[in-house]
Amino acid sequence: MSEIVNVALPKGRLGEQVYGLFEKAGLECPDILSDTRKLFFENKEKGVRFFWVKPSDVAVYVGRGAADLGIAGSDVLLEHQPDVYELLDLGLGVCRMMVAAPKDFRDNDDMTLRVATKFPNIANRYYAGKSRDIDIIELHGSIELAPLLGLSDVIVDIVETGSTLKANGLVPMAEVVKISARLIANKANFKFKTEEIERVTSALSDVL
Ligand code: PRP
Repeated sequence: MSEIVNVALPKGRLGEQVYGLFEKAGLECPDILSDTRKLFFENKEKGVRFFWVKPSDVAVYVGRGAADLGIAGSDVLLEHQPDVYELLDLGLGVCRMMVAAPKDFRDNDDMTLRVATKFPNIANRYYAGKSRDIDIIELHGSIELAPLLGLSDVIVDIVETGSTLKANGLVPMAEVVKISARLIANKANFKFKTEEIERVTSALSDVL
């Protein structure tokens, strides 16, 4: 008998778009969109069970095998580098990781650059590649405030529409990396449920 595939979906707008893809792929679970506080839903006939988890936790569930599959932003994957398979680029949640600064900022190579970010590993690797001496100021949100209050010189953050930068008088200076949502799989679970996981992956890939 084939086993059910456990899928960790990121709660929020991206998760709803991703669920839309599963639905299009014939892997629906209609109760999931009902207005309840319930966090898991299954469709035994279709062999899928979905969980809503915090977007930044998807890689934890998949990395530890509590979920077989999950959808995570490539920003989170680059930051935490979980030991998982990356099966598909879903082409959703597309945005860019960028360096941004106040309009009048001029970089001076003789000074340590103060960088505010939610992504210290990505920022460290980016500046190490440029042999630039930096001081990371790790924050968990509202990153755009840091240079305005003199806490940092620049930020490394996600830019989607650019309106948060604009509203706070910041300008993009360089692209660090392009970001999009990826389908990831737990390595050990993939071995045990290869057929089931491949069935889900190819159904999704067909509707992309
Ligand atoms: C993200 C990101 C930017 C903003 C970019 O923040 O950190 O602040 O969205 O989007 P935009 O280019 O379309 O304006 P989020 O909304 O997740 O909140 P946060 O500041 O609490 O991280």
